[in-house]
Amino acid sequence: MNEPIRLTKLAKRAGCAAKHPPGFLLPLLGQLPKVMDPRVLVGSSTADDAAIVKLNEDTALVFTTDFFTPIVDDPRDFGRVAAANALSDVYAMGGVPLSALSVVGFPDGLPASVLAEILGGAAAVAEEAGIAIAGGHTIKSEEPIFGLAVVGTVHPNKAIANSGAKPGDALILTKPLGLGIITTAAKNDNDDANAIGEAIRVMTTLNRAAAEALAPFDVHALTDVTGFGLLGHLRNVTSASGVEAEVWFDRVPVLDAARTYVKAGIAPGGTRANASFLQEWVSFAPDLADHERLILADAQTSGGLLAAVPAAIANDVRRALDAAGTLAAAVVGRIVGTGTGRIVATRTPPAPG
Ligand code: CO
Ligand code: CO
Repeated sequence: MNEPIRLTKLAKRAGCAAKHPPGFLLPLLGQLPKVMDPRVLVGSSTADDAAIVKLNEDTALVFTTDFFTPIVDDPRDFGRVAAANALSDVYAMGGVPLSALSVVGFPDGLPASVLAEILGGAAAVAEEAGIAIAGGHTIKSEEPIFGLAVVGTVHPNKAIANSGAKPGDALILTKPLGLGIITTAAKNDNDDANAIGEAIRVMTTLNRAAAEALAPFDVHALTDVTGFGLLGHLRNVTSASGVEAEVWFDRVPVLDAARTYVKAGIAPGGTRANASFLQEWVSFAPDLADHERLILADAQTSGGLLAAVPAAIANDVRRALDAAGTLAAAVVGRIVGTGTGRIVATRTPPAPG
């Protein structure tokens, strides 16, 4: 009998934790020529989830690509997670997916059936999103790589960028954190609570239902929580919006096993890199332990949507998300005032008054 192939053993890094950290990327993007094309409504300057290009008065294209090395062992699950993760960036702009292409790197020596499983898993998730994977490109690579380039559409005036958050907004998160910690535990055979199944369920859940539940509301800013962690993606929102924010640790949904594992010292390198980048941006209350801070910086793959909505409608938004069956619908903090993007993380919201 052949041992089943464990995809995570073929990769040094996994999922969105393989992303280059913002401390590497942001200064580099600043050196590129400025995007001057007036049809580009959203480009790289606001660290957004996807680019938006206006086609005409009624329609803009939303397009994005996301790919990575295996985050889970099973090829079909890898395809499903990668597809849900790539599609998420269209939802995170308020867009509706239209079609996608596969982006594939595949090592010599792995059976073609493994790639067939990856592509099959991705196709199943694309179908859930209501689209087809219409083509793709495959190269030989040292480690397996998979993801999608996705196009979607949005009304040019309805795109939800990172830059619209306003003082007083409530911050709502639609999936629990801890995916980087749990997948790292599983990769290193430390997943004693066998939490990987739950993590895969979270990662393969499309953000479609959450996006559709949010669509009727006046959402000021929207992103999805992936490789830079909750605090890193919130920082993209606060700095693009010129505001400051609070995050309340006890209100943040977290997978139980992740709390246990991170306390025992388990976290992906990408999570630690996020935490070190964020030192400059985040003030932590002294009663938040180091492992709790790491949870807030944990590199997610296919994480939830993070929405900034006027506080007055926050409860209605939460109810709509609950009714749509989202995995979480938690108010995890708020935008407190104008500023340069700084975030204060405390255990609980400050007492009113
Ligand atoms: Co994103
Ligand atoms: Co992305």
